[in-house]
Amino acid sequence: EDPTFTTPSSSQTGKAILLAAERLRSSDVPVAFPTETVYGLGADATRDEPVRNIFTIKGRPADNPLIVHVGSLKQARELLRPTTASPTDTFEIPPIYKPLIDKFWPGPLTILLPLPPNSNLSPHVYATQTTVGVRMPAHPVALALALASNLPIAAPSANKSGLPSPTTAKHVAVDLYKRVELILDGGGCNVGLESTVVDGLSSPPAILRPGGVSLEQIRACEGWEGVIVHKEDGGGNSGGGANGVSGAAPRAPGMKYKHYSPTCGVRLYLPNTDQPTVEVLKSTAFGSDSRVVRMGVLRTRQWKELDDQELEWLRERNVEVVEDSLGTSGEEISRRLFGALRRMDDEGVVVVHIEGIEEDMEGLAVMNRLKKAASVVIRRRDV
Ligand code: TXA
Ligand code: MG
Repeated sequence: EDPTFTTPSSSQTGKAILLAAERLRSSDVPVAFPTETVYGLGADATRDEPVRNIFTIKGRPADNPLIVHVGSLKQARELLRPTTASPTDTFEIPPIYKPLIDKFWPGPLTILLPLPPNSNLSPHVYATQTTVGVRMPAHPVALALALASNLPIAAPSANKSGLPSPTTAKHVAVDLYKRVELILDGGGCNVGLESTVVDGLSSPPAILRPGGVSLEQIRACEGWEGVIVHKEDGGGNSGGGANGVSGAAPRAPGMKYKHYSPTCGVRLYLPNTDQPTVEVLKSTAFGSDSRVVRMGVLRTRQWKELDDQELEWLRERNVEVVEDSLGTSGEEISRRLFGALRRMDDEGVVVVHIEGIEEDMEGLAVMNRLKKAASVVIRRRDV
């Protein structure tokens, strides 16, 4: 049932993982590592000092709890064990999670487990919650790190709080330069958006954060047919969501903070609105006419690439365009989104116009992140 881990002895990767595992055990400085969703900034979840350092390094609010990463179901069950329990006692994960774990672990799914009365975990991990978020990541490096260290690894995304989550080791290095000592480089993240956070302890069960596993996939599991998606407040300038969203307060504390934003302005176009014309691109450049201003355009499914004539028209008016396609499938768009937002900042774009997608399948998580990043949302009636 548990993934097996063979100690890699000769490869560079194996040595790097063993070094990182050793740092997790003995150093108070967190280590960055790849997962299939985004890069994480990890620490031994049972020690206060390194966990506290995660919050300092990221500039993260103390009331925003961390996800604990495990490499096996055995490690997950240990999190349910009170310090006072005898070593022979066993603890079971609440049965509601069984179909989800069978289907999606290891993978981009975080489940909330009840905290035992005397938890081994540093209280900074769960902050003000009575639960702990747990996930078994699918990235082989992340799994190997959890198993090699034999530690539960508390890890938020390895970005500076508020910026888009990192999907390459380079993104981590840019954000956390001189604040971390070790980044395991596992290449680009395959999923590209964070895990789905689910609460099976409440009734009905709820999705607290949409992510790499879709609402449709969760709803198809036994006991999860009536799953609701928790409404969020705050964060971006647009609230709300789709799909049977409940009216209750946000319960994943992280969801109330503004997130995922590049420094440039973001204009998000909902489906069924028109592609911005060159006149619109020019009007939102609000620069002086004597200085060149860079505008971004991120296309998905319908928008057309600007033609030479349009680019020329803009250039004559001191507007340069940085264009990119995020792809057309939900998977591609998820994978490329955060990197593309970061690229806009790197290229000095002042405002990026982004073509939104329908909120089904991967679209729910993509649009959740984009709405948080957006300074303006263009709906049909606005155009
Ligand atoms: O894919 C991911 O989940 C990545 C990788 C590194 O695993 N991690 C990640 O962590 O996105 P972070 O800290 O950026 O987001 C964790 C989210 C936050 O919205 C937080 O509020 C919520 O999960 N969360 C964590 N523990 C919780 C708990 N006990 N109750 C409610 N929400 C919780
Ligand atoms: Mg994060």
